[in-house]
Amino acid sequence: MSQKHDERVLVTGATGFTGSHLARKLVARGARVTAFARASSHTQELADLGVEVRTVDIRDWADVARHMETFDRVYHIAAAFRTQHADMKEFRRVNVDATGHLLEAARDQGVRRFVHCSTVGVQGEIENPPATEEHPFRPGDPYQTTKLEGEMLAREAMDAGSMEVTVVRPVGIYGPGDRRFLKLFRPISRRRFVMIGSGEVLYHLTYVEDLVEGILLAGEQAAAPGEVFTLGGARYTTLNELTRLIADALEVPPPRVRIPYAPVHLASVVCDRVFRSVGLSPPLYPRRVEFFSKDRAFDISKARKLLGYEPRVDLEEGLRRTAQWYREEELI
Ligand SMILES: NC(=O)c1ccc[n+]([C@@H]2O[C@H](COP(=O)([O-])OP(=O)(O)OC[C@H]3O[C@@H](n4cnc5c(N)ncnc54)[C@H](OP(=O)(O)O)[C@@H]3O)[C@@H](O)[C@H]2O)c1
Repeated sequence: MSQKHDERVLVTGATGFTGSHLARKLVARGARVTAFARASSHTQELADLGVEVRTVDIRDWADVARHMETFDRVYHIAAAFRTQHADMKEFRRVNVDATGHLLEAARDQGVRRFVHCSTVGVQGEIENPPATEEHPFRPGDPYQTTKLEGEMLAREAMDAGSMEVTVVRPVGIYGPGDRRFLKLFRPISRRRFVMIGSGEVLYHLTYVEDLVEGILLAGEQAAAPGEVFTLGGARYTTLNELTRLIADALEVPPPRVRIPYAPVHLASVVCDRVFRSVGLSPPLYPRRVEFFSKDRAFDISKARKLLGYEPRVDLEEGLRRTAQWYREEELI
């Protein structure tokens, strides 16, 4: 796969974890990259890379239409994620309305290919893992619900046929630059991690650089338009194995403390009700505990077959690199 030099590419979400890795890779391959960023985004690193940064409110149709051009490819990576945005209206404005604006403006401007970044979260709880792209939708929270609505807009544009559209659905993304998996790394590094339940549920991750390769393939391969692809790591594990591997990466003993699932889940339901009834956000809530009971394992064979996607960084190596980055940043 080789990016043609001088291709004009638009990336949204280029100041985020995945988007920044993608923008860096595109620049390294000789593309001319434009980023639509918020006025509040930290854009200095992108500017230093040579990315043309434009302040665009993607929630505003007129602003998007004003700045959209005939890019060769658009990678729409921006999203409102769970922890940052509590409000359903804001989730919808970013994950749905903005996606619609970008698709419409790109089509009007004659963009060649549009890659929309969705999430496996649109499939919610997985029955009979691993799940393929055809597993039913079952979004479980405002983030997943609005990501599904955004994906449906991309699929409508795909079916309309006036622009090449591809949807990618990453599985949990980790690697240098991520902070979400600190929730696992930190307690394990401090030897305070407690497994709730058996730890035998399945968990699947994608190393960020592998994901970026997959996103680029979705933007460039002839077989990609009109398709939805799950992009994940080469293998999944149980939570028990994953926490053991993280402990190895951190050079600490594997976690051993385990508590039963049912009473903790019940406590989370009660805690959630009590805190919400007085208008406070609960420290413990069911979705947090359900992390320990829901299988997340996905079949990536469609991306392998049609895109030639092949994750290269094995889990042990990816976790080592992530632990190293957390250490360098003094996050653990
Ligand atoms: N992380 C995961 O495990 C995971 C798993 C599956 C799918 N995904 C999907 O993968 C993509 C990348 O995820 P990530 O974790 O790398 O994202 P991230 O680090 O949270 O970055 C999100 C990006 O979206 C931008 N953004 C947020 N709200 C915006 C708004 N109102 N207007 C314009 N831009 C806005 C952010 O800009 P600022 O810099 O200004 O905040 C940032 O550049 C997303 O589409 C996400 O839904 C993520």
